[in-house]
Amino acid sequence: MKRIFSGIQPSGSVTLGNYLGAMKQFVELQNEYDCFFCIVDQHAITVPQDRLELRKNIKTLAALYLAVGLDPEKATIFIQSEVPAHAQAGWIFQCVSTIGELERMTQFKDKSQGKESVLAALLTYPPLMVGDILLYNTDLVPVGEDQKQHIELTRDLAERFNKKYNDIFKIPEISLPKAGARIMSLQEPTKKMSKSDPNKKSTIAILDDPKQIEKNIKSAVTDSEGIVRYDKENKPGVSNLMAIYSIFSGKSYDEIEAMYEGKGYGDFKSDLAQVVLAELIPIQERFYSLIDSEELDEILDRGAEKANREANKMLKKMYNGMGLGRKRK
Ligand code: TYM
Repeated sequence: MKRIFSGIQPSGSVTLGNYLGAMKQFVELQNEYDCFFCIVDQHAITVPQDRLELRKNIKTLAALYLAVGLDPEKATIFIQSEVPAHAQAGWIFQCVSTIGELERMTQFKDKSQGKESVLAALLTYPPLMVGDILLYNTDLVPVGEDQKQHIELTRDLAERFNKKYNDIFKIPEISLPKAGARIMSLQEPTKKMSKSDPNKKSTIAILDDPKQIEKNIKSAVTDSEGIVRYDKENKPGVSNLMAIYSIFSGKSYDEIEAMYEGKGYGDFKSDLAQVVLAELIPIQERFYSLIDSEELDEILDRGAEKANREANKMLKKMYNGMGLGRKRK
């Protein structure tokens, strides 16, 4: 069976962007692939985190993985820091990548913007992600569009390692969702929706109070034309809302345009809130039944055990390939 690996950072409230770009794909793909889904807490600490918040966010994300429909019988769910091979593989890929190529990563450029006070780990974040993926013999990595450059780097470093040391890695492919690969901010629709956006009106968090979700949708930035029409270039706000509507309702852009012909944005936004909430409320209910359960800890324990077993096999091959330590079978 082919392998999938993907991860989400427990660095804030999980958004509709994470759900549509990544989690929905995870749920669909779990039936056809052997899946590993990780809570990448070591990536989260590349920017300063409050320790209590971090702990809470880790558990929240674990419960959300299950609440959106991941089945622990089909998918291995685990926490990155509970599998030491990730940090070890991250170090190895720092020794395979160059500062030049890491400085060219757009996420590093955006987050650092030439500031000297950024943590060194923000630069070496991609080699850790490369390690995550390659430790599991991964065939496919389901992510949103913002991770494309990191997946390209993963492919490059896998090839480089294979050529220079030992031919041990598969070259993984990216999987982008058919729709929803880039959900935009509700307040600045030319920027992506992000967990770390300080303006909470810009995002829809999966666990937000339904009234808040409705409020955020109603105050989303649109334009003065007053026509529900898909035009990403000239009507980024309305187009983003239409994209969300389309994914949740299964209706095409033409159908949505026809439904709201002659009506203003008010009706459209009210209906959008309803279709979004119809899917999110049951997820929230499942989440609250799981968050304090023993079952959740057991799933994470089993996940860490299996992930450690798999990752250590590959780490040994990497060490042998590079000549680290003493030869081990
Ligand atoms: P993170 O935590 O920022 O995001 C998790 C997933 O959500 C997707 N995503 C979006 N998709 C559509 N629209 C948006 N506005 C949006 N915002 C986020 C992301 O593309 C991602 O798929 N570096 C990764 C975490 C990571 C990882 C990995 C991913 C670490 N190791 C190995 C895959 C494989 C990150 O910061 O994702």
